[in-house]
Amino acid sequence: MDRRRTAHRSSGQFSAGNAGARLRDHPRKRQKAGDRQLAGQNVLPPIDCPFREADEQLERVRKETKCVLVDFHAEATSEKIAMGWHLDGRASLVVGTHTHVQTNDETILPGGTAYITDAGMVGSREGVLGMERTAVLSKFKTQLPARFVVDEGKWQFHGVYAELDETNGRATAIEKIRLTEDEWLIMS
Ligand SMILES: [Fe+2]
Repeated sequence: MDRRRTAHRSSGQFSAGNAGARLRDHPRKRQKAGDRQLAGQNVLPPIDCPFREADEQLERVRKETKCVLVDFHAEATSEKIAMGWHLDGRASLVVGTHTHVQTNDETILPGGTAYITDAGMVGSREGVLGMERTAVLSKFKTQLPARFVVDEGKWQFHGVYAELDETNGRATAIEKIRLTEDEWLIMS
C-alpha cells in the first residue's frame, strides 16, 4: 500500500505538495459519499485549524452529496468531541482515530450526526498500541530511544458500523465493532 496515498491528508491543513483531500465515490451505491480526513492540533505536530478546514471542506462536499464521512485523526478526546458538535447536522458520521483504544461513547447527536471519539485499532492486542511491548517498555523505563516493531501477537479488530439515510444524510444507527482473535476462532 502506498503510504503517501493513504496518509491522513486534507488540502488546506497541510503544506503545499502534500496529497490533497479526496472525495471518494462509492460506486455500489447510487448516492455518493464524501470522505474527508482532518487532523487535530493538540499534542500532534502544529497544523492549520481543523475546524476551519472542516467548514471549507463540508461546504464543498455537500454540494455533491448529503452523506459525508469524516475521519478526525487527533489525540485529545476534547478536540474530537468538540469536532463532533462542530459538524453535527452537517456530517453524517464523524469517527475519531489515532489513539488506538476504542471509546464507549458512540451516539447520534441531535442534528443527526453519528459520532464516536475513537474507533479503535486493528492489530495485536498483546503489545502496546500494536507495537511489540518489550521495546515500548524499555523506552518508558529508560527514556532511551528504542526501535518499535509491529507486534505479531493475537489480533483484535475494532471499527464502527453506521447506517445513513441517503435522502437527507442523517445517521439512523451507529454500533461499535469489537472482535478478538479468540472470539473469531470460536465463531469460525
Ligand atoms: Fe495517528
